[in-house]
Amino acid sequence: MINTLKLSERLKKVSSFLPEGAYFADIGSDHAYLPCYVCLRDQKAKAVAGEVNIGPFNSAKSTVDAYQLSNRIDVRLGNGLEVLNGDTDINQVVIAGMGGSLIRTILEEGKSKLSNVERIIAQPNVDERNVRRWLLREGFTVTDETILEENGHRYEIIVADHEGNQELINPYTESQLEKQLLFGPILLRNKTDIFYEKWRSEYKKLARIVGQMKEASNVDHEKIERFERELLWIKEEITG
Ligand SMILES: C[S@@+](CC[C@H](N)C(=O)[O-])C[C@H]1O[C@@H](n2cnc3c(N)ncnc32)[C@H](O)[C@@H]1O
Repeated sequence: MINTLKLSERLKKVSSFLPEGAYFADIGSDHAYLPCYVCLRDQKAKAVAGEVNIGPFNSAKSTVDAYQLSNRIDVRLGNGLEVLNGDTDINQVVIAGMGGSLIRTILEEGKSKLSNVERIIAQPNVDERNVRRWLLREGFTVTDETILEENGHRYEIIVADHEGNQELINPYTESQLEKQLLFGPILLRNKTDIFYEKWRSEYKKLARIVGQMKEASNVDHEKIERFERELLWIKEEITG
């Protein structure tokens, strides 16, 4: 049974940031593959699988039933963190496979539900900076980050722990803050081949966009300046 559930390498990596015996919420849980994978391997783990859309909600329920995990995985229909009403013992929240601005909105709209949450594991498909900025502002310290490639896509995973009473090392430095928010403070310290590939490709995309913006009838000088600064940062990091 345990081996019949095939999880993507991306979600396996996400799951590796959950502690043993986790009680976590997977928001935007689609087929509930992640909570099922975790609960099949860890008998003490429990989860809430949240879904806003009825189709994926039904798929999630079917997977949980098929693996006979309904006593440990509660599938709930609702928008973002609103499914966590009254659960004060959930310690980790996973939000994966969406854009960074949607993840940020889910976190912002549901932040009253996060007071007991120790760890947020976010895997934005784009706009990672948006998520990092929110985490920094709301007192969640980025303690781990990774970048991986699967089926031609590159994914970043951001792990952030609540400052609470713990002594956590702030990964940001004041003078480099904007740059670190863009690249990821930990990813920037440990640059991998995939990091270089991603930013070489982003450089080309952004340079093309800037070229087109300069040709436009209404030139947005401020935006061009911002993008040119980012191009400079990227160049520094991929060549330096
Ligand atoms: C692309 S899937 C990703 C599924 C899975 N988390 C993964 O990483 O493979 C995004 C899922 O998030 C759900 N979703 C989008 N917005 C949501 C929200 N505000 N609250 C809960 N679920 C949401 C969608 O219905 C969809 O099933």
